[in-house]
Amino acid sequence: MAEDVTNDKSNTDIENEGFISSIITEIVTSPLNLFLLSICLILLYKIYKSSKVPPPVSTPQVPSIPKLKRQDMTLEQLRKYDGTDEIGRVCMGVNGKVFDVTRGKHFYGPGGPYSAFAGRDASRALATFSVNDVKDSYDDLSDLSSLQMDSVKEWEMQFLEKYDYIGKLLKPGEEPTEYSDDEEAKEKDKTAKKEE
Ligand code: HEM
Repeated sequence: MAEDVTNDKSNTDIENEGFISSIITEIVTSPLNLFLLSICLILLYKIYKSSKVPPPVSTPQVPSIPKLKRQDMTLEQLRKYDGTDEIGRVCMGVNGKVFDVTRGKHFYGPGGPYSAFAGRDASRALATFSVNDVKDSYDDLSDLSSLQMDSVKEWEMQFLEKYDYIGKLLKPGEEPTEYSDDEEAKEKDKTAKKEE
């Protein structure tokens, strides 16, 4: 009985081998099959190649420039930081705060999609989601709806996370704060931690 089972198994093995070798013979002797086989191999190679992880997309590197010291600014003072001087520093105002956004120069620098914000108060544009809605005179934002103000505050939070806070955007006639060196040292410490 055991012998019968062993015989059956080896018979099946022989049949399988015969089947496989007849397929191989069929493929290599027929030009059409050879052609189809090479197409399969090419497709398999393409699938293998496309499944490899693509190289990371690099964001343009912005050379680092000395950090601005903590200071409040009027709209006129802010205006000069539009990224067009030789250092290329870009600052912008969001909800009464001035941020150094040079790190995001590909967004805000000359030719960038949001260059209208460079050296200006972007609050209204961010609130209304309209890039060119930027005023040249001081904007107290008092006519904005509470939803629009919520949106400005959300942007402000994002900017506090991502960029260096420089100081307040001064209302006309408002006096700038005198920042102590101590305040600056704390600020530098925070920036160093952010960059770690
Ligand atoms: C069709 C419309 C728009 C598209 C497809 C678009 C797309 C984008 C994309 C892809 C980013 C980059 C996100 C990232 O990499 O972190 C971005 C960032 C941004 N967008 Fe837009 N945007 C549009 C309209 C607007 C409008 C109308 C405003 C404001 C008025 C706006 C303000 C911004 C700002 C402030 C950033 C952040 C840049 C930063 O991180 O400093 N966008 N947008």
